[in-house]
Amino acid sequence: MYNFNFCCPTRVIFGKGTIAELPKYIDRNKKVLMIYGGGSIKRNGVYDQVKRALEGYNLLEFGGIEPNPKYETCMRAVEMIKREGVEFLLAVGGGSTLDGTKFIAAASKYEGGDPYEDIMVKGIEVRDALPLADVITLPATGSEMNSGAVVSRLATEEKLAFHSDYVFPQFSIIDPEVTYSLPIRQTINGIVDTFVHVMEQYCTFDVNSPLQDSWALGILKTLIEEAPKVLANPTDYDTRANIFWCATCGLNNWISQGVPQDWATHLIGHELTAFYGIDHGQSLAIIEPRLLKNQKVSKAKKLAKLAREVFGIEESVDLKAADKAIEAVEAFYNSIGMKTKLSDYEIDANEAAEKIRERFKQRDVHLGEKGAIDADVAYDIVKAC
Ligand code: NZQ
Ligand code: ZN
Repeated sequence: MYNFNFCCPTRVIFGKGTIAELPKYIDRNKKVLMIYGGGSIKRNGVYDQVKRALEGYNLLEFGGIEPNPKYETCMRAVEMIKREGVEFLLAVGGGSTLDGTKFIAAASKYEGGDPYEDIMVKGIEVRDALPLADVITLPATGSEMNSGAVVSRLATEEKLAFHSDYVFPQFSIIDPEVTYSLPIRQTINGIVDTFVHVMEQYCTFDVNSPLQDSWALGILKTLIEEAPKVLANPTDYDTRANIFWCATCGLNNWISQGVPQDWATHLIGHELTAFYGIDHGQSLAIIEPRLLKNQKVSKAKKLAKLAREVFGIEESVDLKAADKAIEAVEAFYNSIGMKTKLSDYEIDANEAAEKIRERFKQRDVHLGEKGAIDADVAYDIVKAC
């Protein structure tokens, strides 16, 4: 196992009716900005619950954060924050709203030049941010318990991430009941996103970390068991609760301590979203099976363990078991209604592969746990999608 240094300062408040606890954790004397997305919270009652809980607070609102949050929109919130002297941010919505809020928190305190260019493109370290918290309404990103955010820039068709300890949420309220209203497509996106998060951290090479492996495989097993249940009964509380906790634990950095990490599926998938606008979960389901095939030899041991321990595949030869694991993962996605081919979205694989190769060449990328996926390998992977 590698050395590690772990800290997650986020308080998690999980369960039914927990939105009402907001006032316990936000200072009444602070000027608060509630940030939300396109309006789902107004339709499912979450907006009303938050307003009721924060009655008497000096509460402003900023709505309109898009799925795959846009830099241009975030900067309008930054202007408002500076104008109004906002002191605390409360994101109410999915991962996009929360990621947008993390970027807004950092950009509001950033005193250099263009915050996107500096923080996202050049990777200049964030040294301050407004304090933030969230009521998370979609199980997928794990953003409610991590320090990352992904923001897109319309003008340049870029979708990039940043990480900073300053943007850990102070607390996250997770009430699984608020997910009853999710459209089926978003429920499926969230399950696949969570599955792939775990794979990015588990499916690399062995460093003798059986406990991390068991945690990771436990999340995958739970997802496989709970996914059909949520599709059959979207308002079953226990199922929604189990799926949400899988999503949070899938990317709160717990399972990745002391082990190598991949993230190539995500970084290639982000380009598909940037160029073609497909959902994050959809992009992952397309890339991951082909990427695993491409990297099968170097990932064989972990893939074989996945085959045997999660899918119950009895195959003693690792490479053969690895093939079966990849097939089983793709079959699982298809079984819950997630498509796994570029052609399903009328995207030309050759064109997508060319665009991504060109972009990765410019950035000189070497992705994956061994840096083995350069622009040309990424081209091969996308072409096969
Ligand atoms: O915008 P509103 O109207 O709120 O509607 C949203 C949106 O249309 C809707 N929704 C959310 N909660 C709902 C709901 N509808 C009904 N009931 C509810 N309870 O769902 C749609 C999608 O929401 P979005 O926030 O975009 O989805 P998600 O949570 O999957 O977030 C995706 C974004 O997170 C990034 C992705 O790249 C993408 O930009 N990621 C962030 C990560 C992180 N911060 O650690 C890691 C991930 O790998 C990922 O990259
Ligand atoms: Zn993801």
